[in-house]
Order: sequence, then structure tokens, then C-alpha cells
Amino acid sequence: MPWRPMAAIDLPAVFTLACAIHVDHFEALEVMADKLAAYPAGCLVLDGTDGGVNGYAISHPYGKGRVPKLNHLLGGLPADADIYYIHDVAIAPAARGQGQAEAVVAMLAGHARDAGFTEMRLLSVNNTMAFWSRKGFTAIHIASLDVSSYGADAVYMGKSL
Ligand SMILES: CC(C)(COP(=O)(O)OP(=O)(O)OC[C@H]1O[C@@H](n2cnc3c(N)ncnc32)[C@H](O)[C@@H]1OP(=O)(O)O)[C@@H](O)C(=O)NCCC(=O)NCCS
Repeated sequence: MPWRPMAAIDLPAVFTLACAIHVDHFEALEVMADKLAAYPAGCLVLDGTDGGVNGYAISHPYGKGRVPKLNHLLGGLPADADIYYIHDVAIAPAARGQGQAEAVVAMLAGHARDAGFTEMRLLSVNNTMAFWSRKGFTAIHIASLDVSSYGADAVYMGKSL
């Protein structure tokens, strides 16, 4: 099944999947709803065959060298947004390895390019650095960037579009 735009009605299923996958990176349903409201064009879901959700992506324009604090409201997009930020891409374990993450990252890159951005950034967690590296992202070291709310293995990464 293809990726489709996320709607508010999807949020409970997206939240349930996020809680199951991101056990060390909890975000409240209100925080997800806030991101969907701030930038619906960057939020996608992958339907499962059983009526549930097999994956989701949350992304939005943001500021270079800045990372939204985990489990905090975004409260709208920054006026000076100069990069496209992938906040999360997650696939249910049973649906992994089928190219769906790769597909949605390519979709987000296309969207970001069309929206006029020349760079994508993200914070790699859960030891996914190798996955992002294969998608062309490289680590960006910024001494002043505090990503501690995401855990010790978090790595800020970026890619030119
Ligand atoms: C990371 C994640 C989204 C990848 O999903 P997926 O369905 O396995 O991804 P795809 O099938 O599109 O994989 C595409 C390629 O990446 C590779 N890959 C997937 N996960 C990888 C990982 N953790 N490390 C290295 N390579 C990885 C696959 O082997 C595949 O390579 P191939 O095309 O050469 O076979 C999934 O593992 C996940 O949901 N993880 C938990 C949530 C998470 O941490 N998300 C990232 C937040 S920053």
C-alpha cells in the first residue's frame, strides 16, 4: 500500500505505533498533533492491510543547527526556517525491509526540493546512522547543539538536496 497524507483521525494509531517503536523517545499524542497541525504536508502514513497503520513520517521546515526538543510542542514553524527537518520515520517491525522507509525519505526529499529547500537534516536515533548514511546523510558536528533529550546515541545529520 502506498504512503498517504496523515489526517487527525490517524493520530491514535500513529501514537500507538510510535509508543511501541520509540520506547526510549516518548512523545505525547498532543505533540504529534501539534506537528501535524503545524505542517500537514510533511506528515504521511502507511496503511496496514488490517486497517491499522504500518508506518508514519513526520517532517517540517526548521532552522539549521536546531533540533526540536523531544516531547515538546513545536508551536508553529520558525519564521527563519532554512532547512527541511525529518523528525521521525518509523515502520512497524513486520513491515520493515520492503523499501517503505526508503520510499518515504525520497518522497520527503522531493517535497522539500519543491518547497525550495536545498538541505535536509535529522537526528538519527536507535542506531539508525547506517540507514541514514546509505541515504546520503552525513554527520554534522555542532558543539553547541544540545540533543541530550534524545539519548546518548543521537547524531545530527544532513544531506544536500
Ligand atoms: C529505520 C527504519 C525506518 C528502516 O525501515 P525499513 O523498512 O527497514 O527500511 P527500508 O526497507 O526502506 O530499507 C532500505 C534499506 O536500508 C537498510 N536498512 C534498514 N534499516 C537499517 C539500519 N538500521 N541500519 C542500516 N541499514 C538499514 C535496509 O537493509 C535496506 O537496504 P537495501 O535496500 O540495500 O536492502 C526502521 O528500521 C524503523 O522504523 N526503525 C525504528 C524507528 C527509527 O528509529 N526511525 C529512525 C528515527 S531517526
